[in-house]
Amino acid sequence: MIGRKNNGRPSPMLLVLLALGFFFATYNLLTIIIHIKSSNSGSLAADRSELSDPLTRMPEETRRAESSNSKFHVALTATDAPYSQWQCRIMYYWYKKMKDMPGSDMGKFTRVLHSGSPDNLMEEIPTFVVDPLPQGLDRGYIVLNRPWAFVQWLEKATIKEEYILMAEPDHVFANPLPNLAKGNHPAAFPFFYIKPDQNEKIIRKFYPEEKGPVNNVDPIGNSPVIIKKSLLEDIAPTWVNISLRMKDDPETDKAFGWVLEMYAYAVASALHGVRHILRKDFMLQPPWDLEVGNKFIIHYTYGCDYNIKGELTYGKIGEWRFDKRSYLSGPPPKNLSLPPPGVPESVARLVKMVNEATANIPGWDALS
Ligand SMILES: *[C@@H]1O[C@H](CO)[C@@H](O)[C@H](O)[C@H]1NC(C)=O
Ligand SMILES: *[C@@H]1O[C@H](CO)[C@@H](O)[C@H](O)[C@H]1NC(C)=O
Repeated sequence: MIGRKNNGRPSPMLLVLLALGFFFATYNLLTIIIHIKSSNSGSLAADRSELSDPLTRMPEETRRAESSNSKFHVALTATDAPYSQWQCRIMYYWYKKMKDMPGSDMGKFTRVLHSGSPDNLMEEIPTFVVDPLPQGLDRGYIVLNRPWAFVQWLEKATIKEEYILMAEPDHVFANPLPNLAKGNHPAAFPFFYIKPDQNEKIIRKFYPEEKGPVNNVDPIGNSPVIIKKSLLEDIAPTWVNISLRMKDDPETDKAFGWVLEMYAYAVASALHGVRHILRKDFMLQPPWDLEVGNKFIIHYTYGCDYNIKGELTYGKIGEWRFDKRSYLSGPPPKNLSLPPPGVPESVARLVKMVNEATANIPGWDALS
């Protein structure tokens, strides 16, 4: 029916459709802004966006800004626990491989070690030792040390680069990472489970109404983020303050749980009027994201469990599995078995990357 010629002229219906199509195509091109309203579904799988456009939001005033192309310093916050150490070694291995490849804006690398004293990786990985929070202040929530680590490192270290990437031990660089920030707009990965607009009552305790609408708080954590050093110097002390106040408030602590320090960064940056460019392609998270493609960082925070037929058995220990939590007290062995056929490329790639690192890092097994 649609598009059938009518005396040589297109039908009015076709004209309307063409106009609509043109409108939406133009609209897409012009706005670039796609606000992903995360669905209410609690299911991880259901929440994964299949958007092909990696850029989910660009603050308006940056649309015309050029890419900065400045180098960024890779800052990896870590502890001296064996569980943190083996991840850092793999992370640093892939940094070194990607650093000088075309497209990379990676500068130098620092492991910001917030356990207060040097450990046995000082020779292997460039490291800056900072203090943990005073005893008891973290209330057992060790990641509260991250903002405090950044405050100390930014104050005491000499950092040549104008930008900083805040990274974590369970990140591996799958592709050379360019500086995704644009001028004063940092770049961040949007996490589907960080939902400021659905936690308005709590957010308002820390982000008062006079500061603006609650969705000024970006759906992000502090990592991965590429941000101008001068901005992070402003934000980091506020981030310490907000994370401690959030931890101190039972309602907030309960509501935010293990993502409290992510919300604290989101709120702290909003308090400083900083909006982030949201980049879906900044990171991928196996097993939910199936392919590496052009994405930059593999984040292996979720366990990957599969049966022998290559079917995901998430939440149930699989016949084949890779889960960082299997190696809480020491490093994974070299040459982990590859997943069975049918398992997503992202998972297979991750295990191959881990294997490559463990095969090539001198003394992998010695340090356990
Ligand atoms: C955070 O900042 C507020 C206001 O400046 C101050 O009153 C409060 O004591 C700080 N809280 C912490 C835990 O540092
Ligand atoms: C790795 O393990 C596979 C079996 O899973 C084996 O065939 C291969 O020889 C091993 N490679 C090395 C370098 O040990």
